[in-house]
Parts: sequence; C-alpha cells; structure tokens
Amino acid sequence: MATSSAQANMEDVPSVDLMSELLRRFKCSDKPDKRLILVGPPGSGKGTQSPIIKDDYCLCHLATGDMLRAAVAAKTPLGVKAKEAMDKGELVSDDLVVGIIDEALKKPSCQKGFILDGFPRTVVQAQKLDEMLEKKGVKVDKVLNFAIDDAILEERITGRWIHPSSGRTYHTKFAPPKVPGSDDVTGEPLIQRKDDTAAVLKSRLEAFHKQTEPVIDYYSKKGIVANLHAEKAPKEVTTEVQKGLQ
Ligand code: AP5
Repeated sequence: MATSSAQANMEDVPSVDLMSELLRRFKCSDKPDKRLILVGPPGSGKGTQSPIIKDDYCLCHLATGDMLRAAVAAKTPLGVKAKEAMDKGELVSDDLVVGIIDEALKKPSCQKGFILDGFPRTVVQAQKLDEMLEKKGVKVDKVLNFAIDDAILEERITGRWIHPSSGRTYHTKFAPPKVPGSDDVTGEPLIQRKDDTAAVLKSRLEAFHKQTEPVIDYYSKKGIVANLHAEKAPKEVTTEVQKGLQ
C-alpha cells in the first residue's frame, strides 16, 4: 500500500515529540474554546504575552506581523506587496491581511480557538473578521487592550532582539538572553527587526492612534474589552491577562 506524504512525514517525527504532542492534546481536551484579540501599540507586550496565553488556553497564535515578515523573507507575491508599507511603518492593505487570516483560521490547531495578535488593526478588518466568524457560527470572546503611554515604547522597541525561527523575544535590559546575541534554547543568533528604529516607530505609533484605536471603540461597544496596564513588569501583565480572561 502506498504511503501518503503526511504519513511519511509522521514516520520521521521523533517519538519523544509525538508523545509530548499527544500529551499536550490530552491536557487541552477539557479546556474551553476561546477566541481572543490582543490590541496595543508596537512594543506594548502582545508578542511577549501571547505564548503564555497560547499554552495556558491551548489556542493557536496568529500574529499578522510575523506572517507578513515570513512572506517578505520568502519573497512571495504577498511579501513583495507588503514590504514597502512595513519598512515605512505603515499598515499593509486590508485585503492582504484579511486574506491571510481567513486562510489561517482554517488550520486544525485553530479549531479550539485563537489569539489574534496584531489583527484586526482597522475597523474594516474588524468587520471582515466578524463576517468570517459569523459564517462559522462563533464570535470573539474577549479583546485584551494593552494600554500604555507612548513615551515608554521607544526603549522597549529599540532594545528588542528576536529569534526568528521560534519568534522568542528578548530585550537587552528587560529580558536579556543568557548569552548576549544568542537564543536561550537553540544558541542560534538573535536579530533586530528592520522597523524597530526610533524613526519608524513614530510612523507605527501614528498608524496605531489613527487606524487601530477606533478598533478598541468598536469592541468596547460590544462590551468585550479588558483594559490592561501594559506598562507594568511582564509577570504583572500576565496576572492582569489572567484576570481579564476569567
Ligand atoms: P507587528 O509585527 O504586529 O508589530 P507591532 O504591532 O508594531 O507590535 P510589536 O511586535 O512591535 O510589539 P509587541 O506588542 O508584540 O511587543 P513585544 O511583546 O515584542 O506588525 C509589524 C508591521 O506589519 C506593521 O507595522 C504593519 O506594516 C504590518 N501589519 C501587521 N499586522 C497588520 C494588519 N493587521 N494590518 C495591516 N498591516 C499589518 O515587546 C517589545 C519589547 O519589550 C520586547 O523586547 C520585550 O521583551 C519587551 N517587553 C515586553 N513586555 C514588557 C514589559 N511588561 N516590561 C518591560 N519590557 C517588556
């Protein structure tokens, strides 16, 4: 009998990885479904808190910024279209990001729920998301608003270092890696994002205030926004997230 490529790939997965994935799925089976949105300006801590929420609630994590950066790096048609706006700190067109989210939400790992990190960023995106979810008979449960003063963000953004393949985030002052410049888990080199400069941050903040703050109002009217004090230390923000999700 012919072996499918999925089966063949499974044969190559080390047993220890298969076992831990089975264990994870078993632990997740009694967790309630949750559909969450994280909204906040650049550097407010969305990417830092997402992996913790993902593990606690067994959700998929969809970060449009990461998806777009992967498309830019792979020079796909989507990446070519997105690159110019991203380099300038402007938003990519609604159609492009709505398309990638629509596709990503079909993944089996998103069936128990999701964390949308960096989407929706305009009211049009929020309306399109509502339409997508309505077709599936579900809706957004909670919007976590990472509220923070702009003045705090430059130091956070310019000190950030990233491990590109895992998305792990470090900060030279607030969350330094064990060995400067290297990922704690793999030892691979860390990089800085091209848009993580003080100059590009200005445009990113402008886009946030003009185009994304109305998204918070949009969900406030639905009564599903939890406001967080995102200027607090990471562990305290995690506690606020947990309270916000009760
Ligand atoms: P994206 O990648 O989404 O960037 P962003 O929203 O600007 O958010 P960041 O990733 O910069 O911030 P974060 O809140 O995740 O901060 P982090 O936790 O890493 O988007 C990039 C671009 O893609 C956009 O400009 C746009 O062009 C395009 N794009 C993406 N989505 C789009 C959409 N929907 N529509 C249109 N265009 C779209 O924290 C930052 C640093 O601070 C880290 O070093 C961290 O260690 C540190 N830190 C975190 N929390 C704390 C804390 N509590 N105390 C001290 N330090 C902390």
